[in-house]
Amino acid sequence: MVKDLRVTLSGVELKNPVIPASGTFGFGQEFLPFFDPDILGSLSFKGTTLQARAGNSTPRIAECPAGMLNSVGLQNPGVEAVIAHELPELRKVFHGPVIANISGFSVEEYVRCAELLTREAQVEILEINVSCPNVHNGGMAFGTAPEAAAEVCRAVKRVATKPVYMKLSPNVTDIVSIARACEDAGADGLSLINTLLGMRIDLKRRKPVLANTMGGYSGPGIFPVALRMVYQVTGSVKIPVIGMGGISTARDVIEMMMVGASAVQIGAANLVNPFACRDIIETLPVEMEKLGIDRLSDIARV
Ligand code: FUM
Repeated sequence: MVKDLRVTLSGVELKNPVIPASGTFGFGQEFLPFFDPDILGSLSFKGTTLQARAGNSTPRIAECPAGMLNSVGLQNPGVEAVIAHELPELRKVFHGPVIANISGFSVEEYVRCAELLTREAQVEILEINVSCPNVHNGGMAFGTAPEAAAEVCRAVKRVATKPVYMKLSPNVTDIVSIARACEDAGADGLSLINTLLGMRIDLKRRKPVLANTMGGYSGPGIFPVALRMVYQVTGSVKIPVIGMGGISTARDVIEMMMVGASAVQIGAANLVNPFACRDIIETLPVEMEKLGIDRLSDIARV
């Protein structure tokens, strides 16, 4: 039987729930040699700030047994260049709904980027990243206190004409309180989890591997943590949740949807296997058949 992979996020229909996570898929161009991006449900592009950023000093990647650390530091060409150059190129190769991932160092910066990106026709969801662990005085600073996250959310909602999803950090004691604060502030949905703050030491140099000392840990090692947090959040809010964190197989996708996620993002897996999203989309119907699932949107929260 043909399986129905469609899901809906705040009225935006996706042909399947698979979305490359921001920062692991650029603006789509790097993956063209591997597969046609039009197979994807959506695509969350690289975290975009008001000004261009070169990112942190290298080394800014460290491999770990069950994942990787990154301290990229929000390298991106800046919102005006994204609109002038990246989105027109993306439009040529991807015709589905795009998620604009917005990062910032002040409430005003989030608002200005949102004002500009909400006008772009192909952008159907704004994902407000209050959880980047790799920059100072911004990023995660807004996502670790309920009131700070709510303030960003309220301000962005005032200018947004597209659904606003707040991307949450796992580096908190109570993610539910932050999720609820965002919902109360008008968020249309939530994305979680971003990376877990970690570090590695280079034994020979007796120094941190990463030039920035710490970085965000992602990959299969964090999947159980992500699953637990998505379960806690979906049990406490009414808005849709995009689940992410270490998903690398179709079975992981179904597991994430069984804790209440409406769609999923694939991050580190893209960097290990550039075909990861394609493989997951192709394998989903096979796994659904084994589990007796005809429509992904029918999956009930455990
Ligand atoms: O450092 C980075 O560019 C990562 C951003 C993020 O994890 O949100």
